[in-house]
Amino acid sequence: MGYSIGVSAYFHESSVSLFQDGELIEFSREEYFSRIKGDNNFPRLTIRYLIEKYDILEKEIDYVAFYEKPLLSFLNVTLYALQHFPDSRKLIYNNLMKIRQSGLFFSSDVKKYLKISNNKIIYCPHHLSHVLSTFPFLPDQEPHVSVVIDGVGDTSSTSIYKVDKGNIKFLDSVEYPFSLGLIYSSVTDYLGFNINDGEYKVMALASYGTGVLNKKFQSLVSKKDSTINLKNFSYYKSIEKSYTDDFIKVFGKPFDKLTSCLTVGSSEFIRATEIAHSTQEYLEENVVNIFDKIHETTGCSNFSLSGGVALNSKLVTKIAQKEYIDAIFVPPNPGDSGAAIGAGVFGSLKSGFKIQNNSSPYQGPTPDRKGQVDVKSEFLTFIFEGEDAYSKTAKLIDQGEILGLINGRMEVGPRALGHRSLVCDPRNKIAVDKLSQKIKNRETFRPLAPACLETFTDDWFIVSDKIRQSLHWMGALVQPTKKCLNEIPSVCHVDQTARMQIVRENNEPFHHLLTQFFRLSGIPILINTSFNCGGDPIVCDVQDAITSSIRMNINYLLVESKLFKVK
Ligand SMILES: [Fe+2]
Repeated sequence: MGYSIGVSAYFHESSVSLFQDGELIEFSREEYFSRIKGDNNFPRLTIRYLIEKYDILEKEIDYVAFYEKPLLSFLNVTLYALQHFPDSRKLIYNNLMKIRQSGLFFSSDVKKYLKISNNKIIYCPHHLSHVLSTFPFLPDQEPHVSVVIDGVGDTSSTSIYKVDKGNIKFLDSVEYPFSLGLIYSSVTDYLGFNINDGEYKVMALASYGTGVLNKKFQSLVSKKDSTINLKNFSYYKSIEKSYTDDFIKVFGKPFDKLTSCLTVGSSEFIRATEIAHSTQEYLEENVVNIFDKIHETTGCSNFSLSGGVALNSKLVTKIAQKEYIDAIFVPPNPGDSGAAIGAGVFGSLKSGFKIQNNSSPYQGPTPDRKGQVDVKSEFLTFIFEGEDAYSKTAKLIDQGEILGLINGRMEVGPRALGHRSLVCDPRNKIAVDKLSQKIKNRETFRPLAPACLETFTDDWFIVSDKIRQSLHWMGALVQPTKKCLNEIPSVCHVDQTARMQIVRENNEPFHHLLTQFFRLSGIPILINTSFNCGGDPIVCDVQDAITSSIRMNINYLLVESKLFKVK
């Protein structure tokens, strides 16, 4: 028996994967335990949790693998910044001051918490970590081309690999500072959102745009040889802002960080939507070109896509529209947090294990973190359990209630899939608006997503088989059918798309709740969003759920098969 631990840390939210004999058995983010949103410290709490939960002896650990080559990554960014000295002095100073909290000290950080030898601490090239993060979730062993697009990893911003029965062959890459991901993040910054967090808001805004700025953006950002015109951006030399005065000259003053100022329909909102639209269009056009070229040179029709840019479900849907594509697979956590899974695969392969595919997207902690849930709280009143709990929950939803679900293991990816979710009736506009704006405090321009019973998916949504697999974790967009648009328009965005989750029969108890709601209402769909309050991490255990429910005025909680009223 051999364990392999994969770690992503110091930059995005720190995460850890645990593999046993080639099988992914646990994945968790440090923020679930520390309760610090986006916690990027060395994930000591998660590692301790895993060691205790699985009673792992240190001698049973084959490898602890990091998700990038830290020295390469540090030198790449710093040496490029040095070319722009003195403009880049703050960036260089910042990198040097934070050196102790970087991957360069990964080995010494590991050894503070695990007594293992140096040769068990290994480093996986960053984009290879992304490629490998798809392996546990791939539905089959079909040969495919694996495309990675992110901000920057080690030295590259885009990488292309051929994957054939576990053999991985590097084909091509685009090197930093040319980065489609960083261009998108720069516009995210310009629009007043936080980088590495607000990109999905830009994607949502883009759907409102008409395209009037598309040509302007394209001519400003693209050089004649199709590379990026870096003079409009400063992410490679500044920590304060990612775009230059040249960009401002064309698109106007940057947006206020207070995004609530973006009132739908206001002139600033319209300006933001057009800039977002042109950025999305630029991304889509360039990524589709990459896929076209891959298909021309390799003849391949099967793809996987990972890296932070793969979280752009609008882009994934656009790629899938190309005729030559048979399938495009996006794993449940394609970003840097999920790269911890790839690092774990890297260690497992080095130990000689075959990676088990078709893994569940629910690999996180259970509501009490260890197994049996024994809910005893002065803040909860027990109502029902078992069948009675589900039918009563369905009734409450039908009556307009918004419920918190905390069931089974947490989701691997950033999207709630019914295990740590807030749900409501998609027919009830008042409940949907309340959930979106009052409870979650989301921007009014962002849609909420539907979860649908697999059996009825095609009655309500137009689903392409090319992306069907990734819809189990909301990896792409679908279009609503007329029936859907007529009966539950609230599940759709302004461009008549929905980021729908297909809920399979084996996804209990979420499937069971949806079934009960369908029997009552004739609608096999619930609105589903992540169970967290404001800027908090998603709730992990029952205590987090109670605290968040009180703060958000959620009246009912379904914990495993037990329904409680929150006092
Ligand atoms: Fe990455």
